[in-house]
Amino acid sequence: MQSSIDGLRRSEPVAWVNAQVRRLPVWAVYLLGALPAAWIVWLTLTGGLGVDPVKEIEHRLGKLGLQFLLGGLAVTPLRAWAGVNLLRFRRALGLLAFWYVLAHLFAWVTIDMGLLWGQMGRDILKRPYITIGMAALVLLLPLAVTSNSWSIRRLGPRWRQLHRLVYVAAALGAIHFIMLVRTWQPEPLLYLAGILALLALRLGPPKR
Ligand code: HEM
Repeated sequence: MQSSIDGLRRSEPVAWVNAQVRRLPVWAVYLLGALPAAWIVWLTLTGGLGVDPVKEIEHRLGKLGLQFLLGGLAVTPLRAWAGVNLLRFRRALGLLAFWYVLAHLFAWVTIDMGLLWGQMGRDILKRPYITIGMAALVLLLPLAVTSNSWSIRRLGPRWRQLHRLVYVAAALGAIHFIMLVRTWQPEPLLYLAGILALLALRLGPPKR
């Protein structure tokens, strides 16, 4: 009896969070998710990106892509382990991740590599961190294309299987980050650890 009362008390904050979350429209998540991009544009126009603005733009966009990927991966474990339901926002988080990674690639192609296609082709083949980044992006492509209600209906159970590719894409994104820093730095390792932890949490969700 006492434990069920404790359970109820504990679930009150969660119910409150879920009630607040239900009031937030999905478009607001897209809007909030676009703010960092607007901030990058603002810093670019006002000269606030330091001595190497090209690298800074590239790095900020890559990191945002990884952060939104992590956000999307956190939705299921959050619901299973904490009861917080952000399922309505998962598609927005995934698409925001995709758009940031695409913008990151676009920055590399244009302002970093200056549209030197031959050089880019060589980099994709010869620089393992670029090869892995590219592989992650290629894996995200079918997910972005099928992130709509029509595809979910059309693909049925195969949709869920296809979207498991996001685990591989996120891990490759983090490995790409680890490889490019060359020395052992905590930040990229923490991203990979976060992704692996979120995946591990899916293996044993608590029975509720
Ligand atoms: C899921 C896909 C990807 C993710 C999550 C990702 C993420 C990142 C992150 C987090 C960084 C480092 C940011 C920092 O140091 O603050 C980075 C750097 C970089 N990424 Fe990606 N990336 C992805 C795909 C790609 C692709 C497709 C390319 C190009 C083909 C690419 C090229 C680069 C380059 C050139 C850098 C900077 C390297 C340097 O400092 O010289 N990335 N990326």
